[in-house]
Amino acid sequence: MLPSINQRVIYHVYLKSFCDANGDFIGDLKGLMQKLEYLKALGVDIIWFTPIFKSGGADGGYDIVDYNDIEECFGSLDDLKELINQARALNMEIMLDIVLNHVSTKNEMFKKAISGDKDYEDYFLFVKSPKGKDAPTKIESVFGGSAWEYVPALDKHYFHVFAIEQADLNYDNPKVIKFAQDVFKFWKNLGVKCFRLDAICHISKGDILKEYEKGDRSVHVNGPKVHEFLKEILHGAFSKDEEYYIIGEVSSPNIDKLLQYTKKDREELDAVYHFKLQETNCTSNNKWAFEENYFLPFKKRVDDYFLAMQANDAKTVNAFESHDFSRGVSRILNDNKYRYESATTLLSVQMFLPGTVSIFQGQEIGMTNAYFTDLNKFDDVESKNYINKSRSEGKSDKEILDILNKSSRDNARTAMQWSSDKNGGFSVLDEKLAKPYYVDDTPVVIPPKINPNYKEINVKKDMESQKSVFNFAKNIISIRKELKAIECGKYEMILKDDPQVLAYKREFEGHELIVVSNFFENETKVNYDLDGFKVLADNYKEQVSLENVILKPYQTIIFYK
Ligand code: GLC
Ligand code: CA
Repeated sequence: MLPSINQRVIYHVYLKSFCDANGDFIGDLKGLMQKLEYLKALGVDIIWFTPIFKSGGADGGYDIVDYNDIEECFGSLDDLKELINQARALNMEIMLDIVLNHVSTKNEMFKKAISGDKDYEDYFLFVKSPKGKDAPTKIESVFGGSAWEYVPALDKHYFHVFAIEQADLNYDNPKVIKFAQDVFKFWKNLGVKCFRLDAICHISKGDILKEYEKGDRSVHVNGPKVHEFLKEILHGAFSKDEEYYIIGEVSSPNIDKLLQYTKKDREELDAVYHFKLQETNCTSNNKWAFEENYFLPFKKRVDDYFLAMQANDAKTVNAFESHDFSRGVSRILNDNKYRYESATTLLSVQMFLPGTVSIFQGQEIGMTNAYFTDLNKFDDVESKNYINKSRSEGKSDKEILDILNKSSRDNARTAMQWSSDKNGGFSVLDEKLAKPYYVDDTPVVIPPKINPNYKEINVKKDMESQKSVFNFAKNIISIRKELKAIECGKYEMILKDDPQVLAYKREFEGHELIVVSNFFENETKVNYDLDGFKVLADNYKEQVSLENVILKPYQTIIFYK
C-alpha cells in the first residue's frame, strides 16, 4: 500500500542514464533492479521512469512506435514483471510514462495513414493547406520550427505540437480514445498501478487553422475538449474501485486551468504534475532566458498555486528537477561552494509543500549541470533545434554554449554518478566504445554522456561525507512521512515580502512545521517569532538560537512545534 498522496515520494529515473547492467553503455531495467535497495533506503515509494517502449528515437523515448513492447536495449517484458515484483516486495511501485498526445511517425498507425488508409488518416490531424506545400498557418511547435509537416503522398500537412517525428493524435475520433484505453489495459494487466500521462494538457486542439500570435500556445494547451477526452479515456480504462495512481503533466501556467484536471470530484487525474517550482527563474514559453530578479515573483507564483490547490482540494506533484530541465543547483542556486546547501535547500522546499514529491535521479546527491565544452555533446532534439535556430539568428557558438550549459535538458540526462570508478560506476564499458542502440538504420537510444565531475560528486562519496545530501534527503523524507501536518496540514506562506527567504508553514491540530530557506549567498535574519519551536532539520550543523535566527548562505532550517 502506498502512503497518502501528500506523503508519497516519487523517484524519477531517466532509464538510459541510470545504471547499465549488461555493459552496453545504456541503462536498463536490470540495472534499475540492482538499485532498488538504494531507493528503498532513501524512502522512495514510486519509481517513475521515462518511456521505455519501442520508439523512433527522436525525443528520448517520447515518440512511441509500439505501446505494448519495450525497447530491447532496456530489457524485456519479463524484466519489467520482475522489476514490479521486486519493487513490490520492498513496498514500492513503478510508474510508467504514457504518451497520449502523439505517436512516432514510425508507428504503424501513422504509416498506414500516410500510405493512403483513410481510416488511419483520421487518427491524426491532417489538413490540406490552402497554400499548397506551405504550412496552413504560422503556428510553431514547442521545440521550435513549424508545427506543420508536409506529406507529399497525401498532399496534406499533419499537426505536431512537439518534434516533426511526433504526430499528434485526433481524439475527436472515438477509435483514438479506444486506442488510449487499450494502452492502459495492457499495462494494467501486467500489474502496473501508477501512470504518468505525458503532455496531457495538449490532447485537445482549438482551431488549428487560425493564426495566433507568436508564442501563443492556447490552441493546443487546455483545449476545449481536454477534460472530456481525459475522462473518457480514464473511465474506460480504470474502474472506480480499483486502486491506481495517475498523474498528468500539465505545463499550463494558468492556475485555474491547472486545477481543473485534479480538483475534487472531477474524476480525472489523482494529481497534476506542474512547473511552478521548476520554472523558478524562467518562464514556460521561454526556458532559455533567465530573470535576474526572479525571487519575489516566483514566491508569489508558488503561493498563488498552492493556495488555489488547497482551496479546491486539488492534488499536485512537486518537483524542482526532471529530465526536462537542467539541474536545480546549477540553474537556480549555487553548484559550487554551496552545492550541498543548495541541493538540500531545494529538496527541503519541495519536501514539505502539499503534494507528492518527485526527486529526479542524482538530485539526492546534488548532481550538477554538465558544462559541456562542445556543442556536439548535446543530443536532445530541443537543444539541437535551439542550436540551429540561434545560429541562423547570428548567435556565436560560444553564446549558444553558455545558454545551453545553463538550460539544456541534456544537463539532467547525463549518467547517474554512483562512485568514482570508471564512468562514475554507471557502466563498465569504455566510453569510447559506447554506441547508440540502432533499429534498422536509426540510432534510437544514444548512450548518455558522462559528467566529468563524477570523481567529486557521486553516491558513494556523498554517503560517506559529513555533508551528505543523500542523508539529509533521507532524513527529511522520514520526517515527511511521520507528520500529520504534512499529510493533511494547512499550507500558508510566511514572510511573503522577504526578498531573500522562502518560508512556509504547515499546520495541523495545533502542530506547526515551518520551513525557512535562504535562496541567496548573503546572510539574512528570519523575522518570525519562533518561540516554542524546535529544530527538526538544518543544513548547517551549528546550533541556532531561536531568538535570533540568522540564515547563512543557502541555509534551510525546518522547525516544528
Ligand atoms: C513531455 C516530456 C518531454 C517530452 C514532451 C513531448 O513534456 O516530459 O520530455 O519531450 O513531453 O513528449
Ligand atoms: Ca545496458
